[in-house]
Parts: sequence; structure tokens; C-alpha cells
Amino acid sequence: MRLVIKKNEAEASAWAAARIARSVKTASKEKPLKLGLPTGSSPLLIYRALAAEHKAGKLSFANVITFNMDEYAGLSREHPQSYHRFMHDNFFSHIDIPAANVHILNGTAKDALAECAAYEAAIQAAGGIDLFLGGMGEDGHIAFNEPGSSLQSRTRVVTLTQDTREVNARFFNSIDEVPTKALTVGVGTVMDAREVLIIVTGRRKARALAACVEGPLTHIWTLSCLQTHPEAVIVCDEHAAAEIKYGTVNYFKEMDEETSAS
Ligand code: GLP
Repeated sequence: MRLVIKKNEAEASAWAAARIARSVKTASKEKPLKLGLPTGSSPLLIYRALAAEHKAGKLSFANVITFNMDEYAGLSREHPQSYHRFMHDNFFSHIDIPAANVHILNGTAKDALAECAAYEAAIQAAGGIDLFLGGMGEDGHIAFNEPGSSLQSRTRVVTLTQDTREVNARFFNSIDEVPTKALTVGVGTVMDAREVLIIVTGRRKARALAACVEGPLTHIWTLSCLQTHPEAVIVCDEHAAAEIKYGTVNYFKEMDEETSAS
């Protein structure tokens, strides 16, 4: 696992967007790029940068197939806080991705278990995910894999913690409106991706980031799973890195300088 530390959110997002753009440019009709995508505030500047590249005629998503990480249970596609709506408003409506290439779990599926199994099957049928972009919750969760999730979990229905509902209540009128359950890819689903790229910014994520980078591999901080992934990068800002030991920060900075130079 690699940790790339940038000065602020803008620089971290620009770095991540450039990394994703590089992969998108390799996509062709014969070999489409399969991209995993998150919601939340963390990827917003990345989506904006990629959409700007597209608008400038430098980037096409015509041969990109996407799989989103999660969706709230019980929210229809049209609900203002559904992740369907979020992705449409913040990304898909600004790029040229064919609608048929977009996959997002259906939060109102009558048979949620069948929906989750079909999602795993669709990822398999597409040939697996090449690059999974993600964020991290304040409790160290990846997608909606809350503390205690199996590190081998697959796509399933989960119960959201009170902490996560409180954090996400900012997007709703009150916490009572935040769904109690969600459909999410599992930790194992993310770990199957050939590459994983996580963006973490802001002081409120610092405790979790330090635990995931320096602590042991544990189901309590599910993002710590990346420690065992051969091609995982976390790009963060200095605020999010605030609780990581000085020596660890220096080590990763040196590694980064070497990688950029070579
Ligand atoms: C939600 C999402 C996660 C996301 C996290 C962080 O819980 N399910 O995928 O990473 O929020 O959100 P934010 O980026 O808004 O801090």
C-alpha cells in the first residue's frame, strides 16, 4: 500500500483525477475500463476535474463501465439523497458515458439479496473491476462496510451505525430521514479490484486514517484491508495525515519522491 500526502484537498483531488484520467485514456471498445466509484463529498473535486477534461475534449468515457459502491436501502432513484441521483447530478450528466454502462445497486429492489448477488455477477461478467476509487468514513469504513464487517464480505445489505447516520444526516433534513440500512459492495469485492485508489481529506478523518495505515489489519477499521492489497494507493491531504507518526509520513514522502522520479 502506498500513501501519497498532498498539501490540501485540491491537490489530492487533482492527483487522483490525473491518475484516473490516465486509466480512462487506455479504455477501448475491445478493452473497456471497469471503474468502481464512490459517493460522498470526498470524490466531488475529482468528478469535477474529470468532467472538465471531458468538456475540454481531452477525455471520453464512451468505453468506461462503472460500478458504484453502495446505495441507501429504501431510497428510489429519484430521491434527492439517493446515490443514483448524486452520481447523475455530480458526474454522469457531465460526461459521455453510455447509460447502459452505469451500474448502481437498486435500493428499492423487492428482493435485496437477489439484487446484491446479481451485482456481484455483473462485476464478474464485466471481467472484474480495474480501478476502484473510494473514500473513507470517519470510522474508517470503506463503502458502507461498517466496523466489524468481515474483511472477506461481498455485496450485501448492511445496517448503518448511528455514527454514520449522524455524519450523513447533513445531507437530509434530519437524522430520522437517514435510512438505517444500505446495499453495499463488500470489503472482498473492493479487494478484488486490480487497483484501489482512496481519497481521504480533512482533520475529521485523521484518527481513522492513522489507524488504517499504522494500526493492525482489523475488521474494526475496514479500510485497513488495503494493507494486504498489492496495488492500493491512499491519497490524502496534510490534515487527514495529522495523526500519522512523523517517521511514517517521512517514509511515504520519500517513497513518493522516488516513485515520481523513476
Ligand atoms: C459514506 C459512503 C462512503 C464514503 C463515506 C465518506 O458513508 N458510503 O463510500 O466514503 O460516506 O463520505 P464523505 O466523502 O462525504 O466524507
